[in-house]
Amino acid sequence: MCDIAICPGSFDPVTNGHLDIIKRASEKFDKIIVLVSYNAKKNGGTFTVSERVDFLKRCLTDIPNVTVDSYDGLLVDYARKVGASAIVKGLRAVSDFEEEFQMALINRQLAPEVDTVFMVSSLDYMYLSSSTVREICYFGGNIENFVPAEIVPDIVKKISKKKQI
Ligand code: PNS
Repeated sequence: MCDIAICPGSFDPVTNGHLDIIKRASEKFDKIIVLVSYNAKKNGGTFTVSERVDFLKRCLTDIPNVTVDSYDGLLVDYARKVGASAIVKGLRAVSDFEEEFQMALINRQLAPEVDTVFMVSSLDYMYLSSSTVREICYFGGNIENFVPAEIVPDIVKKISKKKQI
């Protein structure tokens, strides 16, 4: 049997912390689907869904068992559609836990056959988030240590444009 896991998130934009979790998950499951999903608590976001998918695809070309997709419905519906047995989420700090735990319990209620697996963030990325990257970039800081080099120019371009508006 092929063990499929989903790594869902807003990825607005993907960071080195996300990529670390995705890479480690890809070593534990046969197939990983990185899913750009809709978080009702974050309205809109900075990057479009297709930009987020594009960034992820460009950063993940070297991991053969990883694909990227997007979905605007319930995560568990997507999991059932593709036959995934697990949802993989990264945990950075205790502050992440409450919300993640709640989501895991709700998803378990909706789809008991899909387990949520938490992977603890690597120490290097404990502090890192997409919102931090956006904020550093907005104020003209260097984001090269936080996101892969190939997507830096696109992030800078979009966020500096937003600042001018
Ligand atoms: O990166 P994020 O914003 O923490 O990811 C949260 C996300 C997008 C995975 C979560 O909001 C989600 O699963 N959205 C899809 C809709 C859904 O299934 N909601 C019920 C989960 S409680």
